[in-house]
Amino acid sequence: MKTYLVTGGSGFIGSNFILRQRRLGRARIINLDLLTYAGNPMNLEPIRSDPDYIFVRGNIGDRELVRDILEKYRPQAVINFAAESHVDRSIDGPEDFIQTNVLGTFHLLEEVRRYWGGLQGPQKDDFRFLHVSTDEVYGSLGPDDPAFREDTAYAPNSPYSASKAASDHLVRAYHHTYGLPALTTNCSNNYGPRQFPEKLIPLMILNATKGKKLPIYGDGLNIRDWLYVEDHCEALARPLVKNGYGQYLMRILETGQG
Ligand SMILES: NC(=O)c1ccc[n+]([C@@H]2O[C@H](COP(=O)([O-])OP(=O)(O)OC[C@H]3O[C@@H](n4cnc5c(N)ncnc54)[C@H](O)[C@@H]3O)[C@@H](O)[C@H]2O)c1
Repeated sequence: MKTYLVTGGSGFIGSNFILRQRRLGRARIINLDLLTYAGNPMNLEPIRSDPDYIFVRGNIGDRELVRDILEKYRPQAVINFAAESHVDRSIDGPEDFIQTNVLGTFHLLEEVRRYWGGLQGPQKDDFRFLHVSTDEVYGSLGPDDPAFREDTAYAPNSPYSASKAASDHLVRAYHHTYGLPALTTNCSNNYGPRQFPEKLIPLMILNATKGKKLPIYGDGLNIRDWLYVEDHCEALARPLVKNGYGQYLMRILETGQG
């Protein structure tokens, strides 16, 4: 069985990914998560006593800790979900977004490059670094605009999306400069179980059930694609096993994209 180092696995998408991997018996999982306000250990309660699930509390920017984990568990892939992920919070206070999304990803990349550089033969060839990003790096769409594509120009509009764009560029540069087998996925909004209630769909449901106002962003005319989190997690497993590296835009699986 393969071993994956998953970062940010106690959050919304990461926990769904880990539960799915363990349910299907696909990989042993090491979850490195700082447990910020967005990380919830209860998300992974169903596998608390699973011997092939290991939790480590810590920061992706902690080089020594990341180095120790990589040396100890020798993963075949690193999947980076760890991020500050809420646009409104990034507007109120961008610094944490720069620290984790930009600097944290940089430190993680440095340690992964070091570890990968020490691998040999097929272990080196088959290794993958999968960076989970967002389609918000492409900006916003008007009602008549064509959908984003992998080669759409980056146009981030918030500190959140700018910090994710910066991390995407670093990942790309580590592939081109050092040959690190890296992949980036740029997914649209997710919905589904275990989402923190500050995000649109759970917030609307909670407010509606309490008879509170439903806050609409701007004039309410912005267009977004929505992807069910389980579909996203299944799609994320594909580039891990597929040959080649690059960038994948994940919209709706039925279109065959992603
Ligand atoms: N939720 C969406 O709709 C969506 C859509 C597209 C892309 N994404 C991207 O997917 C990834 C995961 O999103 P999510 O919605 O699950 O986020 P989330 O906010 O629910 O979870 C983030 C997790 O990262 C952890 N974390 C934060 N800083 C850390 C650090 N420095 N070191 C280690 N762990 C840290 C948190 O504790 C939390 O468990 C993010 O990179 C996000 O940009 C999310």
